[in-house]
Amino acid sequence: MKNFISAADAPDMNSLVQRALDYKSEPLRDKNLGTGKRMGLLFLNPSMRTRLSTQIAAQNLGMDCIVFNVGQDGWSLEFEDEAIMSGSTVEHVRDAAPILGKYFDILGIRTFPSLQNKVDDYNELYIQQFIKYSGIPIVSLESATLHPLQSLSDIITIRETFKEKRRPKIVLTWAPHVKALPQCVANSFSQWVNAWGEADFVITHPEDYELDHAFTNGASVTLDQSEALKWADFVYIKNWSTYNDYGRIYCNDPKWMMTNEKLLLTNSAKIMHCLPVRRNVEVSDEILDGANSIVTRQAENRVWAAQAVLSEILRK
Ligand code: CP
Repeated sequence: MKNFISAADAPDMNSLVQRALDYKSEPLRDKNLGTGKRMGLLFLNPSMRTRLSTQIAAQNLGMDCIVFNVGQDGWSLEFEDEAIMSGSTVEHVRDAAPILGKYFDILGIRTFPSLQNKVDDYNELYIQQFIKYSGIPIVSLESATLHPLQSLSDIITIRETFKEKRRPKIVLTWAPHVKALPQCVANSFSQWVNAWGEADFVITHPEDYELDHAFTNGASVTLDQSEALKWADFVYIKNWSTYNDYGRIYCNDPKWMMTNEKLLLTNSAKIMHCLPVRRNVEVSDEILDGANSIVTRQAENRVWAAQAVLSEILRK
């Protein structure tokens, strides 16, 4: 594994999941694998889970880890090629990334989409510039269109939770929100579940919230949430803004919020969310605090997902 930016970087997903579960049962089994290596974690946007879980994972493998908040502590970066830098950006990624490539052995980067320029966002302009100019392995800590460490953690959580000898039914449902959010988590979850290929996968959302087919291909898509939820084993709840008419909020119907009443339609489904979550907007208190919620386990598994990925990179 050279870089980790999408499901394509994990062709043997089940062995990566197993590696993560092995770390979960014995966190320090490879405590010297990264001795003498240094990881940089660059945040252009806020984070709690990704930041801390990746630091812990790197430390469990014996790596030094330095966190740098580009947005707050560093110079504002320019990403456009041939930009005339007479505006607010101070340093071009062409100049910054090679330096970071000398300081670190692996670089993790969090960059959200603009939700203004669909072409740049869906070409992954920011993370691709770091791949191009840093010369070292790049790990996505959430990019413009995907959140692969989250999705790996989600698959790990499903694998360790579902014990029946049949394919689980997994439903990804859109939920209301107060802000226009990226499509990353929904794209990424869809991409990973489809690539995994071991579940019946249904996506449900209101009209106008279709996701990019490049990620959803293989899933059944319906505008009828009640129909989708029937006999679900897992319900993944997430808001996203519109993809076609990019970055907007159309319908924000509170009826799409997940509640205990809707849980009755399911096969007593486990409830998933990447967090942070807007309580009583996306998901009701009763659901989040109820016995079916596995959101804390998902977040816990972020450590083992990151550790499995970093160990793959360190072994190469
Ligand atoms: N789920 C997730 O990525 O959380 P953070 O934004 O806190 O890292």
